Amino acid sequence: MYELVEKSEIFNVHKMVIKAPGIADSMKPGQFCIIMATEFSERIPMTVSDWSTDTGTITIYALELGISTLELARMKVGGSLYAVTGPLGTPSEIRHYGTVVLGGGCYGIGGIYPIAKACKEAGNEVISIVEARYSPMFYHEKELQQVSNQVFYATSDGSRGKKGKVEDVIAEMLERGARVDQAFFMGCTQMLERCSEATRPIGIPTKVALNSIMLDGTGMCGACRVTVGGETKFACVDGPEFDGHKVDWRELQQRKSAYTEQEAVVYQSLSHECLAEKKLRGEL
Ligand SMILES: Cc1cc2nc3c(=O)[nH]c(=O)nc-3n(C[C@H](O)[C@H](O)[C@H](O)COP(=O)(O)OP(=O)(O)OC[C@H]3O[C@@H](n4cnc5c(N)ncnc54)[C@H](O)[C@@H]3O)c2cc1C
Ligand code: FES
Repeated sequence: MYELVEKSEIFNVHKMVIKAPGIADSMKPGQFCIIMATEFSERIPMTVSDWSTDTGTITIYALELGISTLELARMKVGGSLYAVTGPLGTPSEIRHYGTVVLGGGCYGIGGIYPIAKACKEAGNEVISIVEARYSPMFYHEKELQQVSNQVFYATSDGSRGKKGKVEDVIAEMLERGARVDQAFFMGCTQMLERCSEATRPIGIPTKVALNSIMLDGTGMCGACRVTVGGETKFACVDGPEFDGHKVDWRELQQRKSAYTEQEAVVYQSLSHECLAEKKLRGEL
């Protein structure tokens, strides 16, 4: 069993530190694991944002969206997850690129951390750009600052850093004449597509961590099928990172929303509300 040894919440993102020594021992940046909260839960992929071979733990940041992430959110320290399988996926390609820009939104704020760390250790100039709706939604800040030469913030309401999104910060950097040798992006699909479009005109090599629906995570079920450069790929084994300029975004969005109706029915039946958001709006 996989004990939950630490847990905290930043709005609807839940930091969970899980005892999983076998996974911590062999984890590499860019990889993920598949988690089942209980015996009856769905299998859901989660990026491993940090790990320690000393404590035998892995850290994930779970964005509460639907039934499975709600189950994770409701878990208590000292409880155990039914299954954690990993490491899965092909690790990020880390080498000396020169200047590397990493962009993260929602769970990607935590997810880019190990890639940033490894890029810094490989001698790169690391520029991290993170986006959120408003300032208090940022997390894992100190850690990201420690492994970045610079960290830029973008918020939808302008409460911190640039008013806008990651791609607006990139546009400003490029206008100032900054050189970028490699970009990595992690977050929701819309963000990945927007950022890829921002780097396309000047041909910055761009990797995006795709978040297609996954079941087994080992290349057997085909649920995670994506088209990249006209070829069929399985995001769980061939990725999750792919060339952002070659992804068929429309197909990915369609496949990701295949169960939206069913997901909404299940979630509504729980009558759940995100209390943190209500508090922010002053309704509590
Ligand atoms: C490689 C990879 C790494 C990921 N890392 C993280 C992470 O670190 N933190 C995080 O919060 N989220 C991460 N995700 C997304 C996360 O897996 C989904 O948000 C989660 O499965 C939603 O489940 P749900 O039941 O709570 O929501 P639902 O209401 O069931 O679904 C909400 C949306 O989540 C997506 N989703 C649902 N089931 C799956 C599934 N089995 N696999 C992938 N997507 C699904 C669908 O697009 C769906 O529309 C990652 C996804 C992938 C593919
Ligand atoms: S999740 Fe089954 S093949 Fe990728």
